[in-house]
Amino acid sequence: MEALIACDIGGTQLRVATFDAASGEMIQQKRIPTQAAGETAVDRLTGLIGELWPTRGHVRAIGAAAPGFVDPEMGIIYVTPNIPGWNGLPLRQILEDRFDVPVFVGNDANLAALGEWRFGAGRGFHHVLYLTISTGIGGGIVNNDRLLQGARGLAAELGHITVEPNGPICGCGKRGHLEALASGTGISNYVAEKLAAGAASTLLKGPHPSAKEISQAAAQGDPLALKAIQRAGTYIGHALADFLHLFNPSIVIIGGGVSKSGEMLLAPMRIALNERVISPEYVKDLQIVNAMLGDDCGLMGALALAKMDDHI
Ligand code: BGC
Ligand code: NA
Repeated sequence: MEALIACDIGGTQLRVATFDAASGEMIQQKRIPTQAAGETAVDRLTGLIGELWPTRGHVRAIGAAAPGFVDPEMGIIYVTPNIPGWNGLPLRQILEDRFDVPVFVGNDANLAALGEWRFGAGRGFHHVLYLTISTGIGGGIVNNDRLLQGARGLAAELGHITVEPNGPICGCGKRGHLEALASGTGISNYVAEKLAAGAASTLLKGPHPSAKEISQAAAQGDPLALKAIQRAGTYIGHALADFLHLFNPSIVIIGGGVSKSGEMLLAPMRIALNERVISPEYVKDLQIVNAMLGDDCGLMGALALAKMDDHI
């Protein structure tokens, strides 16, 4: 049997899966924490790939999705705003030297867009905009059935647009980006700031609740938590209007942990979008849907990358 290996590199988890190259069926998968004392994340990744390496048949290629600025041609990870120590990492070289098969590396959200377009909510659409709202905010664009890469593969960093010039510092170190205001990190920091300034909350515990805790408290009616989620939704809606003007997609797919807040986030997002869009034509036939591949989007994107014949 011929196999493909897909890796999803996250700030908290590393996931590796093997697939039957012919049928696309997943054969085996395993996830481990990205960080562990006394071991580098790269060693942990190569260890995990080695562990899942098929004992029979051969591996055609490895695809890997990484949460940062990736040069897909060189397979170098330049910066991972939310994982320390991965700056300038030549991941392709490292994995090719170690495993002696072709390796393809891409930005996690670009690959998630590719995965959703090939296997998920974007199937059959030619113009897809994918937005993930998680620890960071990432984007991916499929335009006319091609993944938009840009000159260096760095296109579609949709989380790093400036929405408040004097706003808080982002994971990338710059100020006022959408990610700094509307990601899980941004939501959590906003609530922490309000609590420190004396805002009341009946349901939130501790000085710095996580986005997940905030979303749960919001669902139970905590006004501060609800305000934090709605505020993020409004920022995302305004940004989405800009994205529609730039890319004019026919479908917007929203993924990432924070999107699980559902209508609490999406209702203010739609209002803000409609408020800012320059013509109703942009939204007339537009679909805005949840990602279908959920936690598997990174893996499926990495699989799509490993599978592609022309390697985009
Ligand atoms: C990074 C993106 C990534 C996103 C989601 C952002 O901070 O800049 O490259 O796609 O987080 O992981
Ligand atoms: Na991207």
